[in-house]
Amino acid sequence: MKTIGIITSGGDAPGMNAAIHSIVTTARFHNIQCIGFERGYNGLIDDIHHDLTLTNVKHISHLGGTILKSARCPRMLEQKFRNQVIETLINNSIDGLIVIGGDGSFQGAHLLSQITDIPIIGVPGTIDNDIDGSDYTIGFDTASNTALDAIDKIRDTADAFERIFIIEVMGRHSGQLALNVGIAAEAEQIICPEMAIDPHLIVQNIAQHINSYLIDNGHASYIIVAAENTYPDGALALAELLTKQIGIECRASVLGHMQRGGLASCADRTLATKLGAFAVESLISGYNNVMSGQVNGQLTLTELEKTGLGTKQVDPYLLNIYTNKLN
Ligand code: F6P
Repeated sequence: MKTIGIITSGGDAPGMNAAIHSIVTTARFHNIQCIGFERGYNGLIDDIHHDLTLTNVKHISHLGGTILKSARCPRMLEQKFRNQVIETLINNSIDGLIVIGGDGSFQGAHLLSQITDIPIIGVPGTIDNDIDGSDYTIGFDTASNTALDAIDKIRDTADAFERIFIIEVMGRHSGQLALNVGIAAEAEQIICPEMAIDPHLIVQNIAQHINSYLIDNGHASYIIVAAENTYPDGALALAELLTKQIGIECRASVLGHMQRGGLASCADRTLATKLGAFAVESLISGYNNVMSGQVNGQLTLTELEKTGLGTKQVDPYLLNIYTNKLN
C-alpha cells in the first residue's frame, strides 16, 4: 500500500481533524502517503485534492469542522458519478480510501465497494452517535458538552423567570444526544424517538406532567429537552400548543448547528486518534468495506452495510433512570 485517499463527508463533527491527523501520522509511520479529497464525495467526483503531509496536519486535532471541508453529495446516488469516483481513485493511484462520516457516507462507501477492488474503510464521525458498531462516534462527546453548556445557561434564565422551556437538540432520528444531555441537565422532561411517543399524545402528556409538577413545586423552571424530529412540527410549534393547553407561556429554543462546532473534547480527540490509526492498520492488513469502531473499549471492525441500520439503542439504564424519575 503506497497511497491512501481520505474524505470527510456528511455533517461535520468535532474530532474529524484529529482523525485526519492520526491517519496521516500512522500512514507516515508505514511509509504511506495520504491525499485529501475536498468537500466529501464531491472532491472524489470532481478530482479536487491535495497532499496531506505531516506539516499540513500539524496542530489541527483541536479544531472543530474539518480541514478537508465536508458536504452531502446527492450525486453519489447516480451510478455515473460513482464511476467517476473510481476513475479519480485510479488516476491518483489510490490503494485504499478512508471515509470519515456518518451512515449516509457509509452507504456511499458500500455502493463504491460493489464496483471496485480498492479497499474502503469507514471511521464514524457524527455528533448523532447513531452508528452501529461503535459505542461512541467522533463528535458526540463534544456536541453533548456544547448542548449541555447551552441548556445550563438557559436554566439560569428559566429559574429567574420561573419559565417553561422546550430546548430542541440535534440527532436527526436518534435520541442519543437528547437523552444524554437531558439527564445531565436534570431536565424535567426528555422526549426522543426511542420513547415511541404517539405524536398526538405528546402535548397532552407533557401538559399533564407540567401541571402536576407545578402543583408539587410551586412556581419553578421547567425544561423539556426534545430530540429534533420527535414532534413533527418542531419545538416552536410545540411551545405554542403547550402555551394554549396549559395557559402558561412556554418558550422554545432550537440549539441547531452550534452543536456541531467548537474545539473537540479530549474524549473525541483520543477516540478519533484510535479509530483513525486503526483504519490505516486495517487497510494495511487487507480489510475492505468495514468501519473501525470501539465497543466496550475494544477496537472492532463492522461491515459498512451493518453500521447504519438505525438499530442502535439509547442506554437502557439511563432511560430507566429517567422514566423512574418522571413517575
Ligand atoms: O448528522 C448530523 C446532523 O447535525 C444532524 O444532527 C442533523 O439532523 C443534520 O446533521 C443537519 O444537517 P444539515 O447541516 O445538512 O442541515
